[in-house]
Amino acid sequence: MREIMRTIPLGVSKINGSRLAYGCWRLAGTWDPAEVTPASREAGRKAVLAAYEAGYTLFDNADIYCRGEAERILGAVLKEIPAMRERVVIATKGGIRPAGEPDANAPSRYDFSAKHIIHACEQSLKRLGIETIDVYMLHRPDYLADAAEIAQAFSQLKDAGKVRAFGVSNFRPTLVTALQVVCPMPLVVHQVEISLARLDAFTDGTLDQCLIEGITPMAWSPLAGGLIGAGAKRLLPAQETYRPEKFLPALDAIAKARGVSRITVALAWLLRHPSKIIPVIGSTNPEHIREAARADELELTREEWYRLLIAARGEPLP
Ligand SMILES: NC(=O)c1ccc[n+]([C@@H]2O[C@H](COP(=O)([O-])OP(=O)(O)OC[C@H]3O[C@@H](n4cnc5c(N)ncnc54)[C@H](OP(=O)(O)O)[C@@H]3O)[C@@H](O)[C@H]2O)c1
Repeated sequence: MREIMRTIPLGVSKINGSRLAYGCWRLAGTWDPAEVTPASREAGRKAVLAAYEAGYTLFDNADIYCRGEAERILGAVLKEIPAMRERVVIATKGGIRPAGEPDANAPSRYDFSAKHIIHACEQSLKRLGIETIDVYMLHRPDYLADAAEIAQAFSQLKDAGKVRAFGVSNFRPTLVTALQVVCPMPLVVHQVEISLARLDAFTDGTLDQCLIEGITPMAWSPLAGGLIGAGAKRLLPAQETYRPEKFLPALDAIAKARGVSRITVALAWLLRHPSKIIPVIGSTNPEHIREAARADELELTREEWYRLLIAARGEPLP
């Protein structure tokens, strides 16, 4: 294996992240902060250490992941290894507000008001125990968002030295444009679900826009939440409908021919796209985290890439 994973700049920024990112969503081992135990925290700590040692230098987090516990676990490791902060890029997200906050009757919702963005970002900084977030993303589009208000919040956070660069997640391309036209700084990443089981980004304009605007796409659930791999611990509702059996035989055939694992091929398939997709690895198993990093060494041929696309579509190309 390469000693160090390759890095690429995030969008047009000077921030360099590893070719694959480590995702912190599952770090606490549960979605419910009441269920977090010293043992589950320790497993999360070991996962972060495994990722760091395997060469991941881009860590993806969010305030909503186990209601801040995932940020706390990452923050504790950053404190334990002071040299780590300078070597890694910390990305986190805000804008989703859980039900029951601040009033018991409040529904789960999205909130891109300047007041909430700034507050959420400051809370993330505290939990992570850092001075500056490298990349701050808006997690899911707020139907009531006002682009000028978001731009104002971003400027305030940047001027205060609290955030270096900004990005979005799960936006439609038109909404990215609506924000970018009023935002004084370039959006550097767009995080969306992309995998052999979820092909939308290739055809809905998301990756085209990333190429045009120089935005780096980050692929969440690159292994379809575990459906491509040794199994899924917890799937999102939409992922329950995925049919990986359509493409697993093609994936396994290429893996066998190349002498690598199915995981390596599935991730290398994402890496091969010219928009420089960064897969965000969600495993908390150190061996799986290391295995995923091997995709950085595999370059698929055009023929292999298309064989997988056709299998994933479940029908020939027109
Ligand atoms: N922006 C958004 O809206 C959004 C939404 C969801 C996720 N995300 C981000 O994307 C990251 C990844 O999402 P995800 O966790 O669904 O990704 P994923 O990598 O598709 O799925 C991870 C799951 O696959 C399982 N898995 C089984 N075999 C594996 C193998 N050989 N190698 C690796 N994993 C294997 C893992 O279990 P083990 O732990 O046992 O390996 C884990 O439960 C999250 O951590 C988060 O940072 C963002």
